[in-house]
Amino acid sequence: MHVFLNGRIIPADQAMVSVFDGGFLHGEGVYTTLRLYGGRPADLAAHWDRLVRHAQALELDPGLDQDRLGAIIADLARANGLTGTDGRLRITVSRGGDAAHPVPLTDPAAVPPSVVITLVAVAPEIELWQRDGIAAVVLGPAYARSHFPELKTLNGLTTILAQRQAARLGCQEAILTARGGRLLEGAVSNLFLVRQGNVLTPGAEGHFLPGRTREHIMAIAAGLGLPLRETTLRVTDLADAEEVFVASSVREVLPVVAVDRNPVGTGRPGRVTRSIQAAYRPAFLAGLS
Ligand SMILES: Cc1ncc(COP(=O)(O)O)c(C=O)c1O
Repeated sequence: MHVFLNGRIIPADQAMVSVFDGGFLHGEGVYTTLRLYGGRPADLAAHWDRLVRHAQALELDPGLDQDRLGAIIADLARANGLTGTDGRLRITVSRGGDAAHPVPLTDPAAVPPSVVITLVAVAPEIELWQRDGIAAVVLGPAYARSHFPELKTLNGLTTILAQRQAARLGCQEAILTARGGRLLEGAVSNLFLVRQGNVLTPGAEGHFLPGRTREHIMAIAAGLGLPLRETTLRVTDLADAEEVFVASSVREVLPVVAVDRNPVGTGRPGRVTRSIQAAYRPAFLAGLS
């Protein structure tokens, strides 16, 4: 496998980041993950724009522009033999750091960041999850992404612990909640419920990452004439949801057919989820960069 590291595409086993890197030491950095369809990135401009905004919030400068990024992705796809396949691309920008600047508190922008881009094939099980649906477990507020949750940062301890807890229980996603049982998001996705034909998703109260896929789903629902509303949702709302689904750039739209071992609705992917799934890919493939 080849990866991009600080200006060069090199074999993964030769890619080294300093032991003083702020990402390694403190989770100081940002990332984004997106999907390639047939070797071509989807929604790249918006993912790049978000990454740069989130990097700026941490006073980080990725030192790349979108044209250069596009060329790097094409080179990476060729180097990894993934020009014709669907891929999972991750762009990571971390603080960097060296022995002279182990914890740069003043003028952090003077320390060159580490920029890493990796590309692998999309995991084959995702297609099965899209077809058959997944099981999810609801976790308490300790697992919420509590530090700057609107930013996609490397500070992912609660996310990893939530995913591990889900996997231990035979689930493919964890549903994160705030105090009082307010629903936030999936550990690596945004969350949607369907009730009386209405699509509902956590909204204004925030404390979650409003993802790119969530935005696309809002546009798709409008195009399909499906009523979609951002609202406050609680754990108890899961029990009487007719359908539940989660969404993210790489996994796209996944029906959730069981929550805490209880079937959702009929226990099979529902009609509304299926109609959004059916519209999702064509919308993307039409706009590939
Ligand atoms: C915590 C969290 N929420 C939401 C999402 C969905 O974001 P996007 O649709 O931009 O991929 C992700 C994606 O990884 C995530 O990690």
